[in-house]
Formats: sequence, structure tokens, C-alpha cells
Amino acid sequence: MKNLHALIMAAGKGTRMVSERAKVLHELCGIPMLQLVYRSAAALEPDNFFIIIGYDAERVKNSLAGLPARFIIQENQLGTGHAVITAREELEKHRGGDLLVLFGDTPRVRTETLRKLVEHHRDSGAATSLLTVHAPDPYGYGRIIRDSADRIQAIVEEKDASPEVKRITEINPGFYCFQITPLLESLGKLSNNNAQKEYYVTDLIEIQRREGRLVNAILHDDHEELRGINSRAQLADLSLALGKEKNRQLMASGVTLIDPDRTYVHLDVVVEKDVTIHPMVTLEGSTRIGEGCVIHSGTRISNSLIGDNVEILDSCVISDCRIGEGSYIGPSCHLHDRTVIGRQNKIGNYVEVVRSTLGDETRTMHLAYLGDATVGKKVNLGAGVIVCNYDGLNKNVTIIEDGAFGGSDSQLIAPIRIGREAFVAAGSTITKDVPPGAMGISRSRQAIKPDWTNRRRKRSGSDD
Ligand code: UD1
Ligand code: MG
Repeated sequence: MKNLHALIMAAGKGTRMVSERAKVLHELCGIPMLQLVYRSAAALEPDNFFIIIGYDAERVKNSLAGLPARFIIQENQLGTGHAVITAREELEKHRGGDLLVLFGDTPRVRTETLRKLVEHHRDSGAATSLLTVHAPDPYGYGRIIRDSADRIQAIVEEKDASPEVKRITEINPGFYCFQITPLLESLGKLSNNNAQKEYYVTDLIEIQRREGRLVNAILHDDHEELRGINSRAQLADLSLALGKEKNRQLMASGVTLIDPDRTYVHLDVVVEKDVTIHPMVTLEGSTRIGEGCVIHSGTRISNSLIGDNVEILDSCVISDCRIGEGSYIGPSCHLHDRTVIGRQNKIGNYVEVVRSTLGDETRTMHLAYLGDATVGKKVNLGAGVIVCNYDGLNKNVTIIEDGAFGGSDSQLIAPIRIGREAFVAAGSTITKDVPPGAMGISRSRQAIKPDWTNRRRKRSGSDD
């Protein structure tokens, strides 16, 4: 929207969270609270975004890294009104525009609700507009005072409210749209003469009414959407609510969730149709699950791309990986840190793969470790094959070429190369490259002592 600017207040600590991290950095369904608020407002395409930061400023800034925003430092958090005053210099440059003001701790607000606020504001010509809502439990919120003509007159904070005012259920959820020119004039009139000795943004309502300006209160009907987060319990409630919504969307788009109440899918995760997800699965970050995949219980996947028709058995941890279509993983595998698995791969139980690439149709069925390895196509690695990639100083590379065979319980001491269609005999400790087509074997020869058991019995004089 043209001539619209947005300001998000995110300078406070959030004492009630009892955290070293700023409140607005706490995550709902995998996304920091502040970013959720930002996204809702960003969809209106404001000309500028001003983010008021203070406590934990660097991390708050980083949580919006790469997104267009101007950060304004509020050294001392002297109240929500003071936060707007801090942006004064920037606002002076945009006289004539409108300023949408939001709190960083109200993450469920929808873009359509913000659009309604701005559109009403513009249509009515009001100096200031704000959303109000009826709250079943208004405790803690600023209460809306209306005059005999039902127009908003003031907002009174909980801590300044008389018992009579406390009974009012219409509250201030904290969404405002200001014409910038009158806002700049009224800001000078804010005082901190109240119970918390803070400059309240909410006092602007009464100030502007006294100045004879038009202030427009728009009653919204969904209290849940506008709820703020002040405690960990509220964080959990809202996060679960968002998760439920996400799961409903997934089911509507053709994903089977065996138990939606026990499936945890972060908001940015993409799941294609005909995927089946069993209980206690967690999908995080920028993960994408391709069509027809089946993910069994207890598996956690983060920031990974899973191709079509992949089956992942129980209790796997997969992060920062790509897995090709038709592969079969698990149970109890750990695949991580830029690992790329080709198509039609089979990775069986208790296998760890890290910083490695595996070609198509390769099999590593049991109890193996591959670190810093490049493995070709149609390679077969037996039970207990281990790449010894770390010598205490450096991580060394292993190359296993197409069609090679790694016998069970062999150790490949990196840096090392196992050539195309080469064969490593079971139980070998391989320290030198095995050329293509050759066999590498390194184990002591077996001796046979016939009738050894009987002879031992006789020696010891035992009849057993
Ligand atoms: C505020 C409102 C209250 C409303 C409620 C809705 C005021 C005075 N009160 O109260 O009417 O019902 O929100 O949730 O505005 N912040 C800053 N700088 C400051 C102070 C706060 O950036 O100096 C930020 C905080 O980081 C937070 C937001 O503003 O994101 C709201 O502050 P908070 O202390 O939670 O205000 P409430 O007491 O909830
Ligand atoms: Mg609050």
C-alpha cells in the first residue's frame, strides 16, 4: 500500500518469559515471533519497515536478516509511547503518510485484519485508528473507554484502572494506524505520569480526542487472533494452535496424518500430496517432503529435501540433507550436515552419514559410518563398514567408486580411494588405495587346529 509505513515494537525484554533471549525471538512452530508479525505486515507492502530494538538487539536484528527493515535502537525502554518517539527522526521524513504500529509479541495477526484496519483508517479520514476486541479474560490488557456517543475516548491500562474500568471487556490488542503528521504533534504531549512511570502509546487516544481529532476504534471479532504472548504458557498455547492449523492445511492438501495432535510440522515446511506421516514425527525449518513419501514414528527432519516416494523408518534424525527419490532409510539412522543421497538408495539400521555424497542404487544396510566420503553408484557396503575420516587433526576424504564392494567390518583409513568395482575383503583395515577391479585384503591368515577341543579337555583332566 502506497504511503504506508510499518513500525514494530520489539525492544522489550519480556520479563515474564524468564529468559536471556528477547521475548520476540521465541519461536512458534519454528518461526520467531517477530518474524511472524513482520510477515503479516509485509504482505501489505509498506514503503518502510521500522523495527524498534533494544534488549538483545543484535540477535533481534539477525532474526530478520536479509529482509528490508530499518532498525532503530531504543536504549532505555521507557514505554510503548517512548518507542514511537524514538522513531521520530525517521517519521519526520514521511509526513503525510500513514504509520501502522504493531507489537512484536502478537504473532497470529492475519494480513487481512491489518488491511481492514488501514482501509477503514483511510476511508474514515481519522487521525488515528485502532482495533479493539472483546476478551473473555481482559486481565492485563488496556481497557477501551467509550463516551455516551459510543466513540472511543481513552485507553486505561490495567495497572491504572479503577475496579469499575477493570470490568470492561473491550480491550486494546495493540494494533494502530496513525496519520503521521498529527501523530508527530501529539507525541510531544505524552507524559509518564502513571502507575508504571512509562510513556504509553495508548495515551495518544485521549490526547488526540482532546485535540478534537477523529479517532476510530474498529471492533474485531476474533480475540484469539489478536492475543499477545507474555509467558511461556501462552507461547505453547499459540504455537500448538498454529501447528494444528498447519496440520489441517496439510490434510486438506492430500497428506495423511495418522495422529494430527502428535505431528509437529513447522510453518515453512512443504509436504506434497499422498505423503503419510506417522505419530511423533517432527519436520523443521525449510524441509520439503516429496510426493508419496512415508515417514514413520519418532523421526525428525530439518532443513532437508526429500525426493518422491522415499520411505523413512522409525527414529531417524536427518538434517541439512538431500535424499533422492525412491530411497529407503532407517530405522535409527543419523544423516546430517550436507549429506546427499542418490535415488533408490538403501540405508539400513544404525547408519550414520555426514558430509558425504552417495550415488544412485547404493546400499549401506547395517551399522555403518560414512564421514567426508564420496560414494559412487551401485556400491554395496556391508555391515559395520567404517570410514576413519578423522586423524585427530584433520578430516580426510574417502572416495569409493561405482560398483565397489566394501566387505563387512572393514575400516577404510582416509584419505583413501577404493577404485571402480574394487573389492574390500571383510574384516580388513585398508590403508592404501585399492585400484579399480582389484581386491584389498588386510587380515591375518586363519590357522586351524584340528581336534583342539578334545585335546584341551584331556589336558585339563575334565570329562565334560
Ligand atoms: C500493551 C498496551 C496495552 C495492550 C497490550 C496488548 C501500552 C501502554 N499498553 O501492554 O494497552 O492491551 O499491550 O498486548 O501500550 N516495547 C518496546 N519498548 C518499550 C516498551 C515496550 O519496544 O519501551 C515493546 C515490547 O517489546 C513488546 C510491546 O512493545 O513487544 C508491548 O509491550 P508490553 O510491555 O508487552 O506491553 P503490555 O503491558 O502488554
Ligand atoms: Mg504485551
